Amino acid sequence: MLRQNNSFNNMQPGVRHGAQALTDPTAQGPAVSLTRAAIRFGDVVAFQDVTLSVAPGEFLSVVGPSGCGKTTILNFLAGLLPQNVLTEGEINILGKPPIIGNPNVGYMLARDSLLPWRTALGNAEFGMEARGVPKKMRRDHAREMLARVGLSGFENSYPKELSHGMRQRVALARTFSLDAEILLMDEPYGALDAQTKFQLEELLMSLWQENRRTVIFITHDLAEAIALGDRVVVMAPRPGRVLGDIQIDLPRPRHLRELQKNHRYHDLYRNVWTTLEKGFEMGAIR
Ligand SMILES: Nc1ncnc2c1ncn2[C@@H]1O[C@H](COP(=O)(O)OP(=O)(O)O)[C@@H](O)[C@H]1O
Ligand SMILES: [Mg+2]
Repeated sequence: MLRQNNSFNNMQPGVRHGAQALTDPTAQGPAVSLTRAAIRFGDVVAFQDVTLSVAPGEFLSVVGPSGCGKTTILNFLAGLLPQNVLTEGEINILGKPPIIGNPNVGYMLARDSLLPWRTALGNAEFGMEARGVPKKMRRDHAREMLARVGLSGFENSYPKELSHGMRQRVALARTFSLDAEILLMDEPYGALDAQTKFQLEELLMSLWQENRRTVIFITHDLAEAIALGDRVVVMAPRPGRVLGDIQIDLPRPRHLRELQKNHRYHDLYRNVWTTLEKGFEMGAIR
């Protein structure tokens, strides 16, 4: 799959840069790879013996109970943890060890990741600002992205004036406006009501389908993991490890409202659930 050039010279979402893609030296390898990786915080083993490879443009969902190391994986990939917590194995992002502030990486959290003193527009453009995109260009692009996530007319609203769903829309606009190759999403919809969550899942799918970046999407919700993902990795805690890696062979584009009627979807749900249960039987989940 072709990769996206990451410069801000042409920030139109959905525009691919084939010429640069062909010269991208990392285009052949996995976007993210963990090889027999273990991370420890002192005596606490966050996870161990995790081997996982995510292809460019792949949407990987990760499920597993609290404490199995999901957030730690994303934090490490985002360069937020010191290298020395990786006590075994190797973790690479686009073929290299993670670094903080990597422009190829976008990170979206569950809640309250907006700056309260900035408007929706100010928040949507923040990532681009941090990366030195000139003011007019980032303003225009942030405005476009807010429109894309359904927030035209709310540019000047502050986070406290927006519902939680709207705040997550702003966070989506900010994350997608960076045009990063790799998006790390840590339970971004975990705190939303079912209806809003569904709308935001559909929005994420349509943004992602316009221009497929690599996504690692963490969720507690098995239905969400299957509906969105190309694969679902199931983890177990104490110590954190991978129990299963299940290919989601549902055709795309997916119409999330239709999935309930799809037999294959229910088979996959059972499969993911059975894998999670294995952790339960092994005494890993308490
Ligand atoms: N900075 C840290 N210092 C010490 N222990 C940590 C730190 N971050 C995570 N842990 C521990 O690592 C394990 C995995 O945590 P985490 O990655 O947050 O799991 P999850 O996101 O799957 O719930 C837990 O036991 C947690 O307490
Ligand atoms: Mg977590």
